[in-house]
Amino acid sequence: MKTIQTIKELKEAIHTWKREGKTIGFVPTMGAFHEGHIALVKAARQEADIVVCSLFVNPLQFAPGEDYDRYPRTLDADKHIASREGVDLLFCPTVSEMYPEPMTVNIHVKRRVDCLCGKDRPGHFDGVATVVLKLLQLTECDFVYFGLKDAQQVAVIEGLVNDFHLPQTVRRVETVREQNGLAMSSRNRYLSEKERDEAAGILRSLQRVKKWVEEGEVNRDRLIDVVHRDLSESLSGTVDYVDIRSFPELQTKETLQGETIVAAAVSYPSARLIDNIIVHVP
Ligand code: PAJ
Repeated sequence: MKTIQTIKELKEAIHTWKREGKTIGFVPTMGAFHEGHIALVKAARQEADIVVCSLFVNPLQFAPGEDYDRYPRTLDADKHIASREGVDLLFCPTVSEMYPEPMTVNIHVKRRVDCLCGKDRPGHFDGVATVVLKLLQLTECDFVYFGLKDAQQVAVIEGLVNDFHLPQTVRRVETVREQNGLAMSSRNRYLSEKERDEAAGILRSLQRVKKWVEEGEVNRDRLIDVVHRDLSESLSGTVDYVDIRSFPELQTKETLQGETIVAAAVSYPSARLIDNIIVHVP
Protein backbone atom coordinates (compact mmCIF):
# COMPACT_ATOMS: atom_id res chain seq x y z
CA MET A 1 0.00 0.00 0.00
CA LYS A 2 1.18 3.47 -0.83
CA THR A 3 0.53 6.35 1.57
CA ILE A 4 0.57 9.81 0.04
CA GLN A 5 -0.17 13.34 1.17
CA THR A 6 -0.36 15.41 -1.99
CA ILE A 7 -3.00 15.90 -4.66
CA LYS A 8 -0.28 15.69 -7.31
CA GLU A 9 0.69 12.15 -6.25
CA LEU A 10 -2.96 11.15 -5.99
CA LYS A 11 -3.70 12.31 -9.53
CA GLU A 12 -0.65 10.56 -10.93
CA ALA A 13 -1.64 7.25 -9.35
CA ILE A 14 -5.29 7.58 -10.42
CA HIS A 15 -4.36 8.41 -14.01
CA THR A 16 -2.06 5.42 -14.26
CA TRP A 17 -4.86 3.11 -13.09
CA LYS A 18 -7.39 4.80 -15.37
CA ARG A 19 -5.09 4.31 -18.36
CA GLU A 20 -4.92 0.61 -17.47
CA GLY A 21 -8.73 0.49 -17.50
CA LYS A 22 -9.00 -0.29 -13.78
CA THR A 23 -12.16 0.50 -11.80
CA ILE A 24 -11.69 2.51 -8.62
CA GLY A 25 -13.57 2.07 -5.35
CA PHE A 26 -13.19 4.94 -2.89
CA VAL A 27 -13.71 5.01 0.88
CA PRO A 28 -13.62 8.50 2.43
CA THR A 29 -12.84 8.53 6.18
CA MET A 30 -11.54 10.65 9.02
CA GLY A 31 -9.41 7.81 10.35
CA ALA A 32 -9.39 6.10 13.77
CA PHE A 33 -10.37 2.95 11.93
CA HIS A 34 -12.66 0.35 13.42
CA GLU A 35 -14.72 -2.51 12.01
CA GLY A 36 -17.18 -0.04 10.45
CA HIS A 37 -14.47 1.46 8.25
CA ILE A 38 -13.13 -1.98 7.48
CA ALA A 39 -16.56 -3.09 6.22
CA LEU A 40 -16.48 -0.23 3.69
CA VAL A 41 -13.00 -1.23 2.52
CA LYS A 42 -14.13 -4.85 2.19
CA ALA A 43 -17.13 -3.80 0.09
CA ALA A 44 -14.82 -1.76 -2.16
CA ARG A 45 -12.33 -4.61 -2.38
CA GLN A 46 -15.07 -6.97 -3.57
CA GLU A 47 -16.34 -4.66 -6.26
CA ALA A 48 -13.50 -2.56 -7.64
CA ASP A 49 -10.05 -3.32 -9.06
CA ILE A 50 -8.38 -0.62 -6.99
CA VAL A 51 -9.28 0.59 -3.49
CA VAL A 52 -8.45 4.18 -2.58
CA CYS A 53 -9.08 5.38 0.96
CA SER A 54 -8.79 8.95 2.23
CA LEU A 55 -7.99 9.85 5.80
CA PHE A 56 -8.66 13.50 6.49
CA VAL A 57 -10.18 15.12 9.57
CA ASN A 58 -12.12 17.78 7.71
CA PRO A 59 -12.21 21.03 9.69
CA LEU A 60 -15.09 22.36 7.59
CA GLN A 61 -17.55 19.91 9.08
CA PHE A 62 -16.78 20.71 12.72
CA ALA A 63 -18.47 23.69 14.35
CA PRO A 64 -16.51 25.80 16.85
CA GLY A 65 -16.64 23.95 20.16
CA GLU A 66 -17.02 20.54 18.57
CA ASP A 67 -14.30 17.91 18.90
CA TYR A 68 -12.05 18.81 15.93
CA ASP A 69 -8.94 19.23 18.09
CA ARG A 70 -9.47 16.13 20.17
CA TYR A 71 -10.82 13.94 17.31
CA PRO A 72 -8.81 10.69 17.60
CA ARG A 73 -5.80 10.65 15.27
CA THR A 74 -4.21 7.21 15.04
CA LEU A 75 -2.34 7.31 11.74
CA ASP A 76 0.11 4.48 12.36
CA ALA A 77 -2.56 2.01 13.44
CA ASP A 78 -4.78 3.15 10.55
CA LYS A 79 -1.99 2.58 8.02
CA HIS A 80 -1.48 -0.90 9.37
CA ILE A 81 -5.20 -1.76 9.15
CA ALA A 82 -5.63 -0.23 5.69
CA SER A 83 -2.66 -2.15 4.34
CA ARG A 84 -3.85 -5.40 5.94
CA GLU A 85 -7.33 -4.95 4.42
CA GLY A 86 -5.96 -4.48 0.92
CA VAL A 87 -6.21 -0.72 0.42
CA ASP A 88 -4.02 0.19 -2.56
CA LEU A 89 -3.65 3.89 -1.87
CA LEU A 90 -4.12 5.82 1.37
CA PHE A 91 -4.52 9.55 0.80
CA CYS A 92 -3.76 11.58 3.94
CA PRO A 93 -3.67 15.24 2.92
CA THR A 94 -2.93 18.14 5.24
CA VAL A 95 -5.52 20.85 5.77
CA SER A 96 -3.55 23.27 3.60
CA GLU A 97 -3.34 20.70 0.82
CA MET A 98 -7.14 20.37 0.77
CA TYR A 99 -7.89 24.04 1.47
CA PRO A 100 -4.91 26.08 0.23
CA GLU A 101 -7.06 29.20 0.35
CA PRO A 102 -10.62 30.05 1.41
CA MET A 103 -13.20 28.52 -0.94
CA THR A 104 -14.57 30.78 -3.68
CA VAL A 105 -17.70 28.68 -4.05
CA ASN A 106 -19.52 27.14 -1.11
CA ILE A 107 -21.70 24.08 -1.15
CA HIS A 108 -24.79 24.72 0.93
CA VAL A 109 -27.02 21.72 1.52
CA LYS A 110 -30.64 22.85 1.47
CA ARG A 111 -32.68 19.71 1.85
CA ARG A 112 -32.45 16.63 4.08
CA VAL A 113 -30.65 18.68 6.76
CA ASP A 114 -33.41 20.40 8.73
CA CYS A 115 -33.83 17.36 10.95
CA LEU A 116 -31.92 14.63 12.82
CA CYS A 117 -28.26 15.68 13.28
CA GLY A 118 -28.50 18.51 10.75
CA LYS A 119 -30.74 20.48 13.08
CA ASP A 120 -28.21 20.56 15.92
CA ARG A 121 -25.14 20.88 13.70
CA PRO A 122 -25.77 23.79 11.31
CA GLY A 123 -23.20 23.85 8.52
CA HIS A 124 -21.97 20.33 9.29
CA PHE A 125 -23.36 18.78 6.11
CA ASP A 126 -22.15 21.76 4.05
CA GLY A 127 -18.65 20.82 5.19
CA VAL A 128 -19.22 17.12 4.50
CA ALA A 129 -20.64 17.77 1.01
CA THR A 130 -17.78 20.16 0.19
CA VAL A 131 -15.01 17.75 1.11
CA VAL A 132 -16.75 14.76 -0.47
CA LEU A 133 -17.28 16.66 -3.73
CA LYS A 134 -13.58 17.58 -3.77
CA LEU A 135 -12.57 13.98 -3.05
CA LEU A 136 -14.86 12.54 -5.72
CA GLN A 137 -13.36 14.96 -8.24
CA LEU A 138 -9.84 14.04 -7.19
CA THR A 139 -10.21 10.27 -7.05
CA GLU A 140 -12.38 10.01 -10.19
CA CYS A 141 -13.70 6.86 -8.57
CA ASP A 142 -16.38 4.61 -10.02
CA PHE A 143 -17.87 3.64 -6.66
CA VAL A 144 -17.90 5.44 -3.33
CA TYR A 145 -18.83 3.72 -0.08
CA PHE A 146 -20.70 5.20 2.88
CA GLY A 147 -21.92 3.60 6.08
CA LEU A 148 -25.59 3.66 7.01
CA LYS A 149 -24.49 4.36 10.57
CA ASP A 150 -24.47 7.96 9.33
CA ALA A 151 -27.67 7.62 7.34
CA GLN A 152 -28.26 11.36 7.00
CA GLN A 153 -24.80 11.67 5.46
CA VAL A 154 -25.77 8.98 2.95
CA ALA A 155 -28.99 10.88 2.15
CA VAL A 156 -27.10 14.15 1.62
CA ILE A 157 -24.38 12.57 -0.53
CA GLU A 158 -26.93 10.77 -2.68
CA GLY A 159 -28.61 14.16 -3.19
CA LEU A 160 -25.25 15.77 -4.06
CA VAL A 161 -24.35 13.09 -6.59
CA ASN A 162 -27.79 13.27 -8.14
CA ASP A 163 -28.02 17.09 -8.28
CA PHE A 164 -24.62 17.56 -9.88
CA HIS A 165 -24.83 14.54 -12.19
CA LEU A 166 -21.65 13.14 -10.70
CA PRO A 167 -20.54 9.93 -12.40
CA GLN A 168 -20.03 8.00 -9.16
CA THR A 169 -22.25 5.21 -7.87
CA VAL A 170 -22.92 5.56 -4.14
CA ARG A 171 -22.95 2.30 -2.21
CA ARG A 172 -24.67 2.06 1.17
CA VAL A 173 -22.99 -0.27 3.67
CA GLU A 174 -24.84 -1.73 6.67
CA THR A 175 -23.94 -0.53 10.16
CA VAL A 176 -21.33 -2.65 11.91
CA ARG A 177 -22.00 -3.16 15.62
CA GLU A 178 -20.26 -4.28 18.80
CA GLN A 179 -21.36 -7.67 20.07
CA ASN A 180 -23.86 -6.00 22.39
CA GLY A 181 -25.45 -4.08 19.49
CA LEU A 182 -23.82 -0.66 20.02
CA ALA A 183 -23.02 0.87 16.61
CA MET A 184 -19.26 1.14 16.19
CA SER A 185 -17.96 4.69 16.22
CA SER A 186 -14.62 6.41 16.61
CA ARG A 187 -16.24 8.34 19.46
CA ASN A 188 -17.21 5.23 21.49
CA ARG A 189 -13.75 5.35 23.03
CA TYR A 190 -14.80 8.49 24.92
CA LEU A 191 -17.49 6.53 26.81
CA SER A 192 -17.12 4.80 30.18
CA GLU A 193 -17.68 1.07 30.32
CA LYS A 194 -21.04 1.56 32.01
CA GLU A 195 -22.13 3.99 29.29
CA ARG A 196 -21.04 1.62 26.54
CA ASP A 197 -23.02 -1.20 28.14
CA GLU A 198 -26.25 0.71 28.58
CA ALA A 199 -25.99 2.35 25.14
CA ALA A 200 -26.56 -1.07 23.62
CA GLY A 201 -30.18 -0.41 24.60
CA ILE A 202 -30.49 2.21 21.83
CA LEU A 203 -30.63 -0.48 19.17
CA ARG A 204 -33.10 -2.54 21.17
CA SER A 205 -35.47 0.45 21.39
CA LEU A 206 -35.17 1.16 17.67
CA GLN A 207 -35.83 -2.46 16.87
CA ARG A 208 -39.02 -2.38 18.88
CA VAL A 209 -40.39 0.04 16.29
CA LYS A 210 -39.68 -2.51 13.61
CA LYS A 211 -41.73 -5.07 15.50
CA TRP A 212 -44.64 -2.67 16.09
CA VAL A 213 -44.62 -1.61 12.45
CA GLU A 214 -44.69 -5.25 11.41
CA GLU A 215 -47.66 -5.68 13.71
CA GLY A 216 -49.46 -2.87 11.89
CA GLU A 217 -48.73 0.31 13.88
CA VAL A 218 -48.09 3.15 11.39
CA ASN A 219 -48.77 6.24 13.52
CA ARG A 220 -45.50 8.18 13.53
CA ASP A 221 -46.09 10.33 16.63
CA ARG A 222 -47.15 7.40 18.73
CA LEU A 223 -44.05 5.41 17.78
CA ILE A 224 -41.71 8.35 18.42
CA ASP A 225 -43.29 8.89 21.85
CA VAL A 226 -42.83 5.31 22.93
CA VAL A 227 -39.18 5.12 21.81
CA HIS A 228 -38.39 8.47 23.43
CA ARG A 229 -39.88 7.34 26.73
CA ASP A 230 -38.17 3.97 26.48
CA LEU A 231 -34.73 5.55 25.93
CA SER A 232 -35.16 8.29 28.54
CA GLU A 233 -36.07 5.71 31.17
CA SER A 234 -33.31 3.24 30.38
CA LEU A 235 -30.30 5.51 29.71
CA SER A 236 -28.32 7.89 31.90
CA GLY A 237 -27.51 9.99 28.81
CA THR A 238 -29.84 12.70 27.46
CA VAL A 239 -32.04 11.78 24.52
CA ASP A 240 -31.46 14.52 21.91
CA TYR A 241 -33.96 13.22 19.43
CA VAL A 242 -35.97 10.26 18.28
CA ASP A 243 -37.30 10.63 14.77
CA ILE A 244 -39.01 8.59 12.10
CA ARG A 245 -38.87 9.75 8.47
CA SER A 246 -38.90 8.57 4.89
CA PHE A 247 -35.48 7.50 3.60
CA PRO A 248 -33.50 8.96 1.88
CA GLU A 249 -35.78 12.01 1.46
CA LEU A 250 -36.05 12.47 5.25
CA GLN A 251 -39.58 13.77 5.07
CA THR A 252 -42.32 13.31 7.62
CA LYS A 253 -45.68 11.78 6.99
CA GLU A 254 -48.28 11.14 9.65
CA THR A 255 -48.69 7.60 8.40
CA LEU A 256 -45.57 5.65 7.59
CA GLN A 257 -45.00 3.98 4.25
CA GLY A 258 -42.06 2.69 2.20
CA GLU A 259 -38.40 2.92 3.23
CA THR A 260 -38.46 4.49 6.68
CA ILE A 261 -35.64 5.49 8.98
CA VAL A 262 -35.98 5.27 12.75
CA ALA A 263 -33.16 7.32 14.23
CA ALA A 264 -32.03 8.43 17.67
CA ALA A 265 -29.27 10.53 19.20
CA VAL A 266 -28.19 10.32 22.82
CA SER A 267 -25.71 12.65 24.50
CA TYR A 268 -23.32 11.56 27.21
CA PRO A 269 -20.97 14.03 28.89
CA SER A 270 -18.08 12.87 26.69
CA ALA A 271 -19.74 11.87 23.40
CA ARG A 272 -22.92 12.02 21.41
CA LEU A 273 -24.12 8.71 20.01
CA ILE A 274 -26.32 8.27 16.98
CA ASP A 275 -27.94 5.16 15.64
CA ASN A 276 -30.71 4.20 13.26
CA ILE A 277 -32.42 1.34 11.54
CA ILE A 278 -34.20 1.39 8.21
CA VAL A 279 -37.45 -0.50 8.02
CA HIS A 280 -39.71 -1.15 5.10
CA VAL A 281 -43.33 -0.26 5.82
CA PRO A 282 -45.51 -2.06 3.30
P1 PAJ B 1 -15.87 8.82 9.44
O1 PAJ B 1 -16.66 9.17 10.65
O2 PAJ B 1 -14.45 8.43 9.60
O3 PAJ B 1 -16.63 7.64 8.72
C1 PAJ B 1 -16.15 7.14 7.50
C2 PAJ B 1 -17.18 6.20 6.95
O4 PAJ B 1 -17.32 5.08 7.83
C3 PAJ B 1 -18.60 6.82 6.83
O5 PAJ B 1 -19.19 6.45 5.61
C4 PAJ B 1 -19.31 6.23 8.02
O6 PAJ B 1 -20.72 6.16 7.84
C5 PAJ B 1 -18.70 4.85 8.05
N1 PAJ B 1 -18.93 4.23 9.36
C6 PAJ B 1 -18.63 4.72 10.58
N2 PAJ B 1 -19.05 3.87 11.54
C7 PAJ B 1 -19.62 2.83 10.91
C8 PAJ B 1 -20.25 1.62 11.36
N3 PAJ B 1 -20.36 1.33 12.64
N4 PAJ B 1 -20.73 0.77 10.42
C9 PAJ B 1 -20.62 1.07 9.08
N5 PAJ B 1 -20.03 2.19 8.60
C10 PAJ B 1 -19.55 3.05 9.51
O7 PAJ B 1 -18.12 10.04 7.91
C11 PAJ B 1 -17.03 10.60 7.88
O8 PAJ B 1 -15.89 10.04 8.41
C12 PAJ B 1 -16.83 11.95 7.24
O9 PAJ B 1 -18.00 12.71 7.37
C13 PAJ B 1 -16.43 11.87 5.74
C14 PAJ B 1 -17.49 11.18 4.91
C15 PAJ B 1 -15.09 11.14 5.60
C16 PAJ B 1 -16.24 13.31 5.19
O10 PAJ B 1 -15.30 14.00 5.91
